[in-house]
Amino acid sequence: MTEISAALRTATGDLSSAGVPSPRADAEILLAHVLQTSRGDMVRMAVLGKPLSDEHGDRYARLICRRAAREPLQHLTGTAPFADLELLVGPGVFVPRPETETLVAMAATDLVGRSEPVVVDLCTGSGAIPLALKRQVPRATVIGVELSPQAHAWATRNATHTGLDVDLRLGDAGHAADELIGLVDVVTCNPPYVPNDAIPIDPEVAQYDPSMALYGGSADGLAIPLTMAARAAELLKPGGVLLMEHADVQRESLAAALSKTQKWVDLSDHDDLTGRPRVARAMRA
Ligand SMILES: C[S@@+](CC[C@H](N)C(=O)[O-])C[C@H]1O[C@@H](n2cnc3c(N)ncnc32)[C@H](O)[C@@H]1O
Repeated sequence: MTEISAALRTATGDLSSAGVPSPRADAEILLAHVLQTSRGDMVRMAVLGKPLSDEHGDRYARLICRRAAREPLQHLTGTAPFADLELLVGPGVFVPRPETETLVAMAATDLVGRSEPVVVDLCTGSGAIPLALKRQVPRATVIGVELSPQAHAWATRNATHTGLDVDLRLGDAGHAADELIGLVDVVTCNPPYVPNDAIPIDPEVAQYDPSMALYGGSADGLAIPLTMAARAAELLKPGGVLLMEHADVQRESLAAALSKTQKWVDLSDHDDLTGRPRVARAMRA
């Protein structure tokens, strides 16, 4: 038996040596997960000098070992926070990122004043964007399209888990939702956009996010995003809005490619909460 505070200190040191970016936070989240309590309660237990049972200690040590080997934190807890949801994640699905919450907030703003809006999310992964939007704008009809059967299964699980009524379809988003051509208010899309020869630095991304979720299909990473933008142009009604996430370096190139098609007006680009260029917004002409 060891004290919780001592277990936390050792785990933080191990994660720090392994190069995990936020070792103390991860150590706390994993211990709270083992103890089936909130992070705040676990920290209070540590401050009060409470002990960790051998059984919990062994489980915790195994999880810390896996995290030190750079298995994603969210795969170890089985969940990822996103907007005001707690989503289920694991092997076969892209872990939703906090920076994508910017796109969700922008989409909710673009739906203000639209009475029975239709939203289509292309490349839906875990269902993060359509589910978060449905939670924030219940009057919207929301459809999500995902090509990977594994990711689609996670999205379906998340719809059940959150109790949100979103139409989740399995298929190529580049040809999605023929019956909605010209009828959609907002298309959201966080497509794969990593340039084909750029291998992500973080092992959590390079080894655990599915490659189909990462690579944009060309040297500049924009082939799949532009296929999705072309489909968005078909789906949107005049005055409808496309919101597309992109890499830091794609702000100018994506805007130039969109503007070349002459299908869009009012193009703008928006930073995420860390101040990096992240979301292109364009209105259908
Ligand atoms: C970067 S991930 C984003 C997932 C989710 N939108 C999010 O923000 O967490 C891109 C997703 O697009 C999916 N995808 C790739 N090509 C696709 C296609 N042609 N049609 C539909 N989905 C596709 C991948 O499987 C992956 O789930």
